[in-house]
Amino acid sequence: MQLKKLRKLLNELTVTEKVGQLIQLSGEFFESSNDIVVGPEQKLGISPKIVNLSGSVLNVAGAKKTREIQDRYMAKSKHHIPLLFMADIIYGYKTIYPIPLGLGATWNTKLIRDAYKNTASEAKASGVQVAFAPMVDLVRDPRWGRVLESTGEDPYLNSQFSSSMVEGLQNGLNEGHGMASCIKHFAAYGAAESGKEYNTTDMSEYRLRNQYLPSYKAAVDSGVKMVMTSFNSLNGVPATANEWLMKKVLREEWGFEGVLISDYAAVSELVAHGIAEDNRMATQQALKATVDIDMKSPCYVNELEPLLENGSISEEKVNEAVWRVLKLKNDLGLFEDPYRGASEQAERHELVSQKRRELARKVADRAMVLLKNQNNILPLNKNQKIALIGPYADSQELIGLWTVHGNTKDVISISQAFREHATKQNLRIAEGTNILENKEILNNTGISSDEQKSFVLTHEEEFKKNQEAIEAAKDADVVMVLGEHTLESGEAGSKTNLTLPDNQLKLLEKIRSLNKKIVLVVISGRPLVLSNIEPQVDAIIQAWFPGTEGGHAVADVIFGEFNPSGRLSMSFPYLVGQLPIYYNHFSTGRSPETSKHSTRYTAKYIDTPVKPLYPFGFGLSYHHAIYSNLRLNKKTMNKEDNIKVSVDIQNDSEVAGEETVQLYIRDVVGSIVRPVKELKSFKKVALPANSTITVSFEVTNDMLKFYGRDLNYESEPGNFEIFGEYKIVCVNE
Ligand code: NOJ
Repeated sequence: MQLKKLRKLLNELTVTEKVGQLIQLSGEFFESSNDIVVGPEQKLGISPKIVNLSGSVLNVAGAKKTREIQDRYMAKSKHHIPLLFMADIIYGYKTIYPIPLGLGATWNTKLIRDAYKNTASEAKASGVQVAFAPMVDLVRDPRWGRVLESTGEDPYLNSQFSSSMVEGLQNGLNEGHGMASCIKHFAAYGAAESGKEYNTTDMSEYRLRNQYLPSYKAAVDSGVKMVMTSFNSLNGVPATANEWLMKKVLREEWGFEGVLISDYAAVSELVAHGIAEDNRMATQQALKATVDIDMKSPCYVNELEPLLENGSISEEKVNEAVWRVLKLKNDLGLFEDPYRGASEQAERHELVSQKRRELARKVADRAMVLLKNQNNILPLNKNQKIALIGPYADSQELIGLWTVHGNTKDVISISQAFREHATKQNLRIAEGTNILENKEILNNTGISSDEQKSFVLTHEEEFKKNQEAIEAAKDADVVMVLGEHTLESGEAGSKTNLTLPDNQLKLLEKIRSLNKKIVLVVISGRPLVLSNIEPQVDAIIQAWFPGTEGGHAVADVIFGEFNPSGRLSMSFPYLVGQLPIYYNHFSTGRSPETSKHSTRYTAKYIDTPVKPLYPFGFGLSYHHAIYSNLRLNKKTMNKEDNIKVSVDIQNDSEVAGEETVQLYIRDVVGSIVRPVKELKSFKKVALPANSTITVSFEVTNDMLKFYGRDLNYESEPGNFEIFGEYKIVCVNE
């Protein structure tokens, strides 16, 4: 529709109709066509009339359903403004990819762009028009359950993924393809104090701008259509009412003109935060902060009109918000086709097709991170005897918590994939124990006591299961697939104890006592603490929740069909007491590595190593790469030119592989304390067997820029150090 016509439409709307565009309700509101105020409507205090006016709906998917709802809605809509369907499609719609922490470990932004493009095609067929993804919050504390939704701890890597995911989802939007992306959660939700869900974030603007904001800005620069506010307060002001953050930074500085939506009930939670007296005041504050849509709270729906009537807010502000919503609907072409191509026929063609599975497997292969491989025990030989043991050995629960629309029935389990490789006589499979039996955790995850019965085994049952595993292991090499329960990570999955569940640890101990070689596959939504387990096993593969093709990916790595190339995008702590832990921390006055003070008086712990168990960027492969001869084409540069840095990489093995070459820079002296090193670029390169290649990077002035003491974004002249693998070179100004 022409913008002139759209403007005319806006002017024709009554105030109530305008308010309707600014509220989002969830699916159940639209399920019935009767006009009696019951259920969820009554709870939020809204009438069916408002349901018929509300502009968007949350988490309804499926061509048949969305078309029916749209038909009913349009039939009652005087102005024929279509309903907008938004949903949580975080790492796949029906074909599920590894959790984003696994996607981060691929360091392959091109591949992930493709994955999100495929996701958008699937979801579009089912009538979803906006994805609440990607979550681009920087994360450094694995106690927080939502680290699974992030690509990790580094501002640069996260920004690369943020752009590629947005570009993937929104690919071809103007031509009617893809879907709109809504990044979340603005801002700094990933820095909630002590990793506790919904907790406060309080940090300097210096840290915020240099480390936490870049991934959101990258999405805005890539043209993201929507932004979601975060639940946390930021430096004393909840994000949902934070004018500085939303108006000044997001809209004025970054030029974001799209739709800003609150997180679920976050507007009404301004009252609980204690910055609004009641829902009316909360509404006023959120609108002032330019929040356009109120997701599932009783605020905008009940309070906007009274606020307009008493003059506390102007109709112009409401118009601005409604305009942004109408504009989005128009950009998506909904006025021309309110279903946006959704059809059951398209679903048959699109959903979990062979092509999609192949891509999911390719991604999952590359998300696997080999953390240990003592004496090259891996890959295993297909003809050897193998015992596949553990509660995840034969399980389809490999898609993790945040897959509202995914189906575990589509998942290839690890046992199924192993059967494709190993013969029946050579393969034994035993669960050994359940995933989680801890009653306290089960209670807190919200599982009813009835459901808990299927989780917790009696002593006899546990003993029997353990025995089956021991029997299976007796004359075989062992692959153990252990991990945390799906419900232990994701939203509201904060934990302080990050080891494997007790019952699984006990099983591991029993198998260990048989003196068998053990390959451990870890299924988890976060970096777990593996320091006690690491010495007990011969190999470790971090498999995350690997998605629909997860079983294949694990088997591909174990049997050497795929040479692992994943590199961690988040540090694995040695102990929980180290948290938060991340590689690019600020320099201190007493680094344990360089300080001249005696051993005691340096920045460290006296009972735990200061380093993580596995650092950011770490991962092993089956080939053997040797980095050498890090060199520069010149030693000084000015703001206009670049320095070329090169490194030779030799593969002295018979196995071809892929390397993730990482370039780190340290700003030696700044106007403000700088991180000890920062990732500035990386390249994924093929490394043929028995060969040497040279990889080069251009060091640009842009790479040296940061928000300094006066918060201006610029580079400062001085010395810089360039880090490749182990070597350091100085660059003068
Ligand atoms: C709350 C979560 O924080 C957010 O990520 C999600 O998109 C909304 N709920 C909607 O389900």
